[in-house]
Amino acid sequence: MKKKNIIITGGLGFIGSNLVEFFLKKKFNVIVIDRMSIGSNIKNLDKNKNLIIKKFDICNRYLLSKCIDKFNPEAIYNLAAETHVDRSIKNPKSFVKSNILGVINILEILRKKNLKHNFKFIQISTDEVFGDIKKGKKSLETDAYNPSSPYSSSKAASDLILKSYIRTYNLPIIITNCVNNFGPKQNSEKLIPKTIINIFKDKDIPIYGTGKNEREWIYVKDHCKILYEVLYRGKLGQTYNIGSGFVYNNLFIVKKILSIFKNKLKRETKSKIIFINDRPGHDFRYSLNSKKISKTLRKLPKQNFEKSLIQTVKWYKENFSYIKENQ
Ligand SMILES: NC(=O)c1ccc[n+]([C@@H]2O[C@H](COP(=O)([O-])OP(=O)(O)OC[C@H]3O[C@@H](n4cnc5c(N)ncnc54)[C@H](O)[C@@H]3O)[C@@H](O)[C@H]2O)c1
Repeated sequence: MKKKNIIITGGLGFIGSNLVEFFLKKKFNVIVIDRMSIGSNIKNLDKNKNLIIKKFDICNRYLLSKCIDKFNPEAIYNLAAETHVDRSIKNPKSFVKSNILGVINILEILRKKNLKHNFKFIQISTDEVFGDIKKGKKSLETDAYNPSSPYSSSKAASDLILKSYIRTYNLPIIITNCVNNFGPKQNSEKLIPKTIINIFKDKDIPIYGTGKNEREWIYVKDHCKILYEVLYRGKLGQTYNIGSGFVYNNLFIVKKILSIFKNKLKRETKSKIIFINDRPGHDFRYSLNSKKISKTLRKLPKQNFEKSLIQTVKWYKENFSYIKENQ
């Protein structure tokens, strides 16, 4: 049987490369489009006869259109984005370009093409579009967007544009809003890899403010399993929250990693936690109500935060030289 083609933009980044591996295991041909900016690493993907990597920007209309014509994919998963909140505060414009103009560019190309009858465009968005929420509350898909940073507002803007293309042009789109991911291959600027790497180097571990900011955390491989199911079970035109139920503050996460080093890796460290000035506009809490996706999919992966965090620490230990190059 002929293998199916899938395009994954941002496939050299953290979630993208984990998703590419997942689809390769499912015997798809995968075409990655990535401009190789922050977050990407060519070593995130091993050579594979069913993998093609195209290095260009999703804002490039000519190359993107040619690529879609050539491979006539079953679906496009869009994970190409500028993703680091701190960087968005220093340089918001590049976030507008990739996260908003890049998405419109893809949509404009799709709108004018004869796509496969069952084609789907799946946009990977974030819980950050809902902004800060009160203790005890969980954001629903239907809640109003209230983003705080240039990053989250660029993601919110593209979600709204996508919703308008669903309504106005009836394009076959699904939007997923996911909580914080952790796992192998994440850029070392983010909290969990940064903490792990600093502990390995006996360096202090910086935490914003008081460390009480809460996030919901999902293991990237569980997120990828859900994204795969969305292709078959997700309904066109719908938005799905993807969560885990594991809501922890940053201080808890860092202490948990320290205890994994001590108790599982039997490794003592000189690293200390240091509290640094808070990020401007730092949201205090995100958490999602994910009942809609659990009703839609046949089954959700059994998630185990502790086990997945231990696997993550072990992965960084085994891939330490690779990470050093990634820094
Ligand atoms: N990491 C998380 O916790 C999380 C949570 C929810 C949603 N998301 C979303 O998932 C997606 C992937 O996130 P990630 O953490 O893997 O990010 P990442 O920064 O690790 O990877 C992003 C990838 O996109 C590429 N890219 C950026 N702009 C591009 C452009 N204009 N054209 C082509 N390629 C471009 C980068 O080179 C990089 O490889 C993003 O859309 C992000 O908003 C991430």
